Amino acid sequence: MTATTKQQPRHLLSLLDLTPAELHKIINRAIELKAILRRGELHESLKNRTLGMVFEKSSTRTRVSFEAGMTHLGGQAIFLSPRDTQLGRGEPIEDTARVLSRMVDCIMVRTYKQSDLELFAAHSEVPIVNALTDLFHPLQLLADLQTWFEHRGDIKGKTVLWVGDGNNMCHSYINAARQFDFKLRISCPEGFEPEATILESAKDHCEIIRDSLAAAEGVNLVVTDVWASMGQEEEQAKRELAFANYQVNDILMGQAHKDALFMHCLPAHRGEEVTASVIDKKGSVVWEEAENRMHSQKALLEFLING
Ligand code: CP
Ligand code: NVA
Repeated sequence: MTATTKQQPRHLLSLLDLTPAELHKIINRAIELKAILRRGELHESLKNRTLGMVFEKSSTRTRVSFEAGMTHLGGQAIFLSPRDTQLGRGEPIEDTARVLSRMVDCIMVRTYKQSDLELFAAHSEVPIVNALTDLFHPLQLLADLQTWFEHRGDIKGKTVLWVGDGNNMCHSYINAARQFDFKLRISCPEGFEPEATILESAKDHCEIIRDSLAAAEGVNLVVTDVWASMGQEEEQAKRELAFANYQVNDILMGQAHKDALFMHCLPAHRGEEVTASVIDKKGSVVWEEAENRMHSQKALLEFLING
């Protein structure tokens, strides 16, 4: 194959980069891979393959789930932080992408600007995965959807409540509502709405309801996230005031459907966006949700690398 006819790699910069059918396929595969691992079977579908992991922000789940996942599949992952790479000393993103993609089979990037991720992808010869930007966190949605499907089956037609900040997670829930055809209620204080263009793109699936108790009525799934995301630490005090009426607590969960599940991407701040009485009790599936990061990312890597 000549350079001009070379196929462009598939990327996951947002959930909209995959079709609904592909997303469902990845989730089903994640459930299968989880069962294979539980049975103790060796499954080295990515033997001798390497994942590059560029982290410009902190992580526990994303890093460990990718590293462990690549080990299970017979491959390897390389952790790269700006502190130790030339990226942190000003080497251009384009050059970094060109170089890394000649050496590894897939690269995940956790960074601030979505435009930096897009620039990385534009200069990469291998698939690029969004491992969180200020705009989106699609990998978390793969895990959340897997968790929902395992507990409750299809999510089509169900009602999900997002409580809190209109942030990267909220934006990915909006995309998921489109791709998986569920209804999304967003309950956020004024001034903390999701981006208008993202909301507009899914207007048939989403609505903003300011009153969080009214918004929770009869919902099947309640989801929240920290009030101050990474990079917003200095806004913590201001945000605690703004979000005071947007805590997921027993009163709010009492409004939801009796079988409603609770999810949180973690890390959680008990006593802020969620009470211990919700996150540590029946109906909360946060630990499975965290574990499913690993299974769903393994399925994604198989899809992106092996096709
Ligand atoms: N949920 C999530 O992405 O966690 P980490 O920041 O620990 O990777
Ligand atoms: N909204 C959070 C998610 C962390 C996984 C953040 O961006 O910090």
